[in-house]
Amino acid sequence: MKALQDKIRQEGIVLSDTVLKVDSFLNHQVDPQLMYEIGLTFAAAYADAGVTKVLTLESSGIAPAVMTALALKVPLVFARKQKSLTLRDDLYIEQVYSFTKQVASEVAISRKFLSPGEKVLIIDDFLAYGEAAFGMARIVEAAGASVAGIGIVIEKSFQEGASKLREAGYRVDSLARITALSPEGIAFAE
Ligand code: G4P
Ligand code: NA
Ligand code: NA
Repeated sequence: MKALQDKIRQEGIVLSDTVLKVDSFLNHQVDPQLMYEIGLTFAAAYADAGVTKVLTLESSGIAPAVMTALALKVPLVFARKQKSLTLRDDLYIEQVYSFTKQVASEVAISRKFLSPGEKVLIIDDFLAYGEAAFGMARIVEAAGASVAGIGIVIEKSFQEGASKLREAGYRVDSLARITALSPEGIAFAE
């Protein structure tokens, strides 16, 4: 997606060879026009996939996910993160380990908002090691629903998440695919 790639080139800050800061349009301040275009792009890619629900993880996935849900005319559910959750039978709960933050958290969704037979489009802002996406996919499958695909705003292709998800059989659609981060700049996949 050209507008996204241009925005990353203009405003993205390379913090290290593995971390890109995009807090001026995605992770802190949000560019609604760009989020709207992102939503339209995901919705077009999944127009014929029978999606009944969009799922993301709080907090930075919500902006692109709500625009995608708007364009697909389906509800959005965001999984909530908690440090430690006592077992509750009204929730689906999965463990998600963050390699970036080196912390494990539990993500939870109310059973009310995910039903057997649903086709779920998972959306997230970043894809690094794929832990968040795999955690959401496990919740979808535990509910007896299926994953229509995984839509990612910024994929860091040099980390293993995208290839692991595809090897596991998931459809992954990333709007920007970064192959390298360095002080000289940001390299995108063709
Ligand atoms: P994974 O799910 O793909 O395995 O990624 P990881 O655990 O490493 O990601 C942990 C958090 O860091 C996530 O945000 C993710 O979006 C974010 N993240 C990963 N790589 C980058 C990066 O290069 N730049 C930025 N800005 N963020 C990155 P989170 O903890 O869920 O926070 P939130 O922003 O959604 O609240
Ligand atoms: Na984030
Ligand atoms: Na995220």
